[in-house]
Order: sequence, then C-alpha cells, then structure tokens
Amino acid sequence: MYCVRAITNDVYWVGANDHRLHLFENIHPIPRGVSYNAYVLLDKATVLFDTVDWSVCRQFLENVEHVLNGRDLDYLVINHMEPDHCASMEEIILRYPKVKIISTEKSFMLMRQFGFRIDNQDLIEVKEGDTQCFGKHTVTYVAAPMVHWPEAMVTLDLTDGILFSADAFGSFIALDGRLFADEVNFDRDWIDEARRYYTNIVGKYGPHVQHLLGKAATVLDKIKYICPLHGPVWRSDFPYLLDKYTHWSTYDPEEKGVLIVYASMYGNTESAAQILASRLCEKGITNIRVCDVSNTHVSELISETFKYSHLVLASVTYNLGIYPVMLDFLEHMKALHVQKRTVAIIENGSWAVKSGDLMQKFMDDNLQDMTILNERVSMASALHEDKQQEMEQLAQALADSLQNLEQS
Ligand code: FEO
Repeated sequence: MYCVRAITNDVYWVGANDHRLHLFENIHPIPRGVSYNAYVLLDKATVLFDTVDWSVCRQFLENVEHVLNGRDLDYLVINHMEPDHCASMEEIILRYPKVKIISTEKSFMLMRQFGFRIDNQDLIEVKEGDTQCFGKHTVTYVAAPMVHWPEAMVTLDLTDGILFSADAFGSFIALDGRLFADEVNFDRDWIDEARRYYTNIVGKYGPHVQHLLGKAATVLDKIKYICPLHGPVWRSDFPYLLDKYTHWSTYDPEEKGVLIVYASMYGNTESAAQILASRLCEKGITNIRVCDVSNTHVSELISETFKYSHLVLASVTYNLGIYPVMLDFLEHMKALHVQKRTVAIIENGSWAVKSGDLMQKFMDDNLQDMTILNERVSMASALHEDKQQEMEQLAQALADSLQNLEQS
C-alpha cells in the first residue's frame, strides 16, 4: 500500500522510512531511524527526483506507481548518486524503460563504476545553470560538489520555488508520518540528530557548503520549499536553518559552553572531569556536557564538538600513549576538520604521565586554529588535595576564556 504526502498540488514525497538499519554508512548509529526522500513532479512530463536506498525500495515503488496513477515516468533526475539514494534506479528503469535520466557527468561516471546499468537509457548530462522545462515547471540545475560527494548537484524548481537540495539540509531520524519541519518541534527534538548528521557526513566539506549557501543566498527570496534527501521538508523558518548551517560550515561554535570528554580506566580521570564541571558551575558556567569517551559514540562527540565553544580533553596515559578511544576521537576531529575551539587538558598516568603532551602535539600537528590553554591539570593515578590549585587555575582559565568570548 502506498504511503505518500503532497508538498504542493503537483509535487509529492514518495520516499520511505527505515527503522531497521542500525548503522548509517555502516558506521553511525541511528537509533531513531532515517528517511530516504524522493519526490515526484506531475507536469506535462512526469519527473522523479532521486530514488531511495535498496532497503526501502518496495515501498518507494508502490509510492511512485500510486502518484503516477497510470502515467509513464518521463524523467529521473539524480541529484546525488550515492547508493542510499540511487540504489533503486535500476528498478525504476525496469518499470519505466523509456525514462530519461538527468544528472552530471561525474554522476554518470560513478553510476557505471558502481555497476548500475544505465547505458540503454537516454542520458541527459547537465551542468551548472542549465535549465529545463517540463511543462508548467522550469527547473535549473546547480552544481554542489562535495556536498557530499563530488558529483552532487541540487535542482531548483523556478516555478514553485522548490529546492531539491540533495544531502544539504538533511537529518537523521525517520519521518514517521510527519513530513514538514514545522510538524515537529525541530529545535527540541531534531536539532541534535540534524547536527550529528551534518557534522559526520558533510562536516569535512565546510567550504563547499559555504559555496552552495552563497549561491542559495542569491535566490533565497525565490525558495519556498527545501526538500532534502533525508529528514523533513522545510517551508518556513529558513533563517533558523541557514543560521545552523552557517555555524557548522564555518566551524564557528553554536553555543558558548564546555564539552568535557574524559578517558578513564578506574574512575580517577572521570572524577577529575566531574570536579572540573562542578568548579565551572560554581563560577556560573552551566552550559556543560560531560562525556565518557568509551561510552559515547564518536559521531556524538563530533557533533557536540561542533556545538560547544570550549573542549576539555581529560585522558589517562595508556601504553605510554593516548588512550586509544581518545585517540580515535582526535583522529575523527582531524578527518572532519574540526577547528576554532579553545581546548584545556587534564592528563593522568601512574608511572609516566604522557597523555597531555601527546594530545597537545596531535592538535598542534593536525588541527587548525585551536587555542590550547596553558593551564593544565596533571595527575598521577588519582586527584589529590595538592591539585586543588591546578584545578582552580584550569577552571578560572576556562571561565575567563568564555567571558572573553562573550565580550568579543
Ligand atoms: Fe544520503 Fe551522501 O548520501
């Protein structure tokens, strides 16, 4: 049975939700599921914008068939050919063999590389600024390289102001009936998963996202709907969404606050992290998140790192190196180009306290524009009374830095 929703009189969501997949891209947990969005335009010609992941193909095909209501499918526009959106295109070709496929040169190259059989179809290669009329609706194609793969583009329906935005403005979480962002409490219930999606999937490509935002700014008054490939469709609150994307893509923190990430084997480094959190609260710094690096998925740590202005790394020394899970977090920060953060260090070790210098060296060597505070708490096995002053100095340095941020 079909499960579709109307966006306008002639554009329909024909995607589907997935609650079965545990790991998106086989790496990121998605406990609240994900949606794969695709859209049909009914005009003089019929047009399908993108397909869906293989896992939800059957539902998707029923949806497309229902919306077409006996009509043939004339065009398939592939904005992004990554298999979570493109895997079902051969099923579309089988059912609608006359369909013409519209995409970029790189996209067709990648389709062949993945083994998708497209070469019996009419292939229409488009590039930046090309326009096409489907009847009442005229669309223009806009290149969006590295948002999130090199072949990506977005399509703007100039007639009704609908931006088919590919991975841009997407989110984890299954829609479960809701389609529009204004049908959920996005800032309360969705923003953390939207940030986790953006930062881990597209986070590395901030300058490319900035470039796309620059192009969107020139036509913003024409955009009435933003239709991404995951998560809800936006038809209001664009300034809120664009503000989030501007922060994330420029690596500017969203909030003044402190993320404390600790790596602890026997609870002593954890105790130091908790004591620091208490000292900060006593100084009026209450926007704090404390995370155990061993029990918090790295995708969440990355997301929180993009959110907060200040980061405290508290790590035990392990085999004379950085605790492996903490090192993994640092490697993810490097891979995703985390930058512009103020960092404080707490280090621990029982016979050699090495982790502080090693974490500092990792950041100096690999991360851009990080300010590492001179104040450091260095502990041997456990935190004792004689470290009161070091802890106080560290808390005060963080408080002063936060205050300077408020004044700047
Ligand atoms: Fe949801 Fe880059 O694919």
